[in-house]
Amino acid sequence: MIQKIEQLLAEIENLQAGNAEELEALRIKYLSKKGAINDLMADFRNVPAEQKKEVGMKLNELKTKAQERINTLKETFANQDNGTNELDLTRTAYPIGLGTRHPLSIVRNEIIDIFARLGFSIAEGPEVEDDLHVFTKLNFAADHPARDMQDTFFIEQNAEDVTKNVILRTHTSSVQVRGMESIPEPPIRILCPGRVYRNEAISYRAHCFFHQIEGLYIDKNVSFTDLKQVLLLFAKEMFGNETKIRLRPSYFPFTEPSAEMDISCNICGGKGCAFCKHTGWVEILGCGMVDPNVLEASGIDSKVYSGYAFGLGVERITNLKYQVKDLRMFSENDIRFLKEFESAN
Ligand code: DAH
Repeated sequence: MIQKIEQLLAEIENLQAGNAEELEALRIKYLSKKGAINDLMADFRNVPAEQKKEVGMKLNELKTKAQERINTLKETFANQDNGTNELDLTRTAYPIGLGTRHPLSIVRNEIIDIFARLGFSIAEGPEVEDDLHVFTKLNFAADHPARDMQDTFFIEQNAEDVTKNVILRTHTSSVQVRGMESIPEPPIRILCPGRVYRNEAISYRAHCFFHQIEGLYIDKNVSFTDLKQVLLLFAKEMFGNETKIRLRPSYFPFTEPSAEMDISCNICGGKGCAFCKHTGWVEILGCGMVDPNVLEASGIDSKVYSGYAFGLGVERITNLKYQVKDLRMFSENDIRFLKEFESAN
């Protein structure tokens, strides 16, 4: 038996095949069920017990070598361009996994579309801003708590003069200021989407960066009624025609009067649920009439012009629309989460 194995080993080392058919014939001869190696395997039970170990090892070696040799020959055929293997242009392409838009982009675009129909155009400003645009020109007093280390990320801090600080913008209201500065004369009707930063501990309900959209309209005779109608239309377009709004008096340094707007909770339809803390209402934005000081600070005559402004959080609107319960999901880029928005693209 050992002799037979040795002989086959020698044969196998020198195997040659001219084409795929010859190779297949060799495979059948040696490795198939009825091949030479299997025949030997069948005879193995007749080997005397004291030789079993040696013969068994040899037999295994033979089987591996045969397989290796056949595979090597197969590879040489595969790598050979023998003229019959040309590129098949009729073959169906492999599917390509398409990306999906991020939920925040989907919602931002939806918001922009609604306001674009009302004549708002897009304006953008830098994320690294000076104090002047984020605070001073928006009527924040020098000692206003929002300038505090708690909220603001500082890039450069000036001990003598806070207006010289360079910071990461804490709201997109800074782009209102840039918008007002950049035009010679109103009217101005802009929508400013962008990322903002606040020095907060990250949790399911707070993040150190998020997204806002700021709206600004300045013209002659702009009134609070105009603001309310525009916001009502927005709420209905965004959350459905049955949506109600309510405006609560509030305070922002840059608007007077100021308000916060709630919409009837679109999750429970205003009946009360965990999301709206059983009140039936959820807050979605801040707004008001632009404070005359803000107009004047950017060179607009507040005796001739008036305007309104509003600012909303894109994450908040997205949470309401899609009931995302953990803010961190938006920045983790988990493909399973992102794929859930495939149909909304
Ligand atoms: N900037 C405010 C914030 O970050 C939001 C805001 C409130 C913007 C009232 C406005 C406004 O334009 O009028 O919370």
